[in-house]
Amino acid sequence: MLITGASSGIGVGFAHAFAREGAQLILTARRVDRLEALAAELRDRFAVSVLVLPSDLSGPDGVQSLLEGLKEMDMQVDILINNAGFGYQGAFEAAEPSLYEDMMYLNMMALTTLTRALAPAMRQRGYGGVLNVASMAGVTPIPYFSVYAATKAYVLSLTEALWKEYLNTGVRMVTLCPGPVDTEFFEVSGYDPAKSAATRGIQSVREVVDTAMKALRKNQPFVPTSLLLKVLAIFQRFIPRKLSLHILASQMNP
Ligand SMILES: NC(=O)c1ccc[n+]([C@@H]2O[C@H](COP(=O)([O-])OP(=O)(O)OC[C@H]3O[C@@H](n4cnc5c(N)ncnc54)[C@H](OP(=O)(O)O)[C@@H]3O)[C@@H](O)[C@H]2O)c1
Repeated sequence: MLITGASSGIGVGFAHAFAREGAQLILTARRVDRLEALAAELRDRFAVSVLVLPSDLSGPDGVQSLLEGLKEMDMQVDILINNAGFGYQGAFEAAEPSLYEDMMYLNMMALTTLTRALAPAMRQRGYGGVLNVASMAGVTPIPYFSVYAATKAYVLSLTEALWKEYLNTGVRMVTLCPGPVDTEFFEVSGYDPAKSAATRGIQSVREVVDTAMKALRKNQPFVPTSLLLKVLAIFQRFIPRKLSLHILASQMNP
């Protein structure tokens, strides 16, 4: 199985959870030292095989080199966890265009290309799963988190549609929608959950990954990672769009 973004946060949590189940792992991200350290720990603790294939997935070269690496090693991927991603909080014009290009490539294109490359063999085998990490930020537009929220809306829309296309093929398609989780995401994105109401619902990686593992077993298409988030997702449908934008802008404006 392949986990992207396995060098920190939720990706590390997934690596531990699957290693505990005895899965053979392929880990990818850019920070190779972190991946190697995690691989050594997992081999030691769980006696599983772990392969490290470092890659920068913010452009087509990195995605292609990862796919070529898998092919060269003749690695079969039964489960794909598309977890790598990053965000940016701030006014739309405050970030460089290249940051948005990298974010859109990583959060959407890399995820789509990997799914398109690996799902057909899963379907042929009649067994497999793709878990795409979206976010509650994908459920509604969010001012001052605009491009990130839009990328996650794409992930949510794509994966829910694929859930239906792949139903009864043996291939599960799951969209994970966490709210704030205690990871390096906040440092990278500049988003401080302590300044928003969301801080009340901050989750641990362990909680999020436990929910994800259950959802993958059950093949659930849309998975908010707590009861609070499930309720919020329902309420969101009934809040007038303009009101929602005003409320979220007041929380997210740095
Ligand atoms: N934490 C939250 O509050 C939260 C909430 C909802 C959704 N999410 C989503 O959860 C996923 C995991 O994030 P996290 O919270 O675990 O944050 P994190 O600790 O910052 O982890 C992000 C992972 O993505 C990898 N990554 C970043 N840029 C990359 C690139 N160009 N190429 C390849 N890998 C790259 C990072 O590895 P390297 O830096 O080593 O490349 C790291 O392993 C993301 O998709 C995020 O959007 C997070």
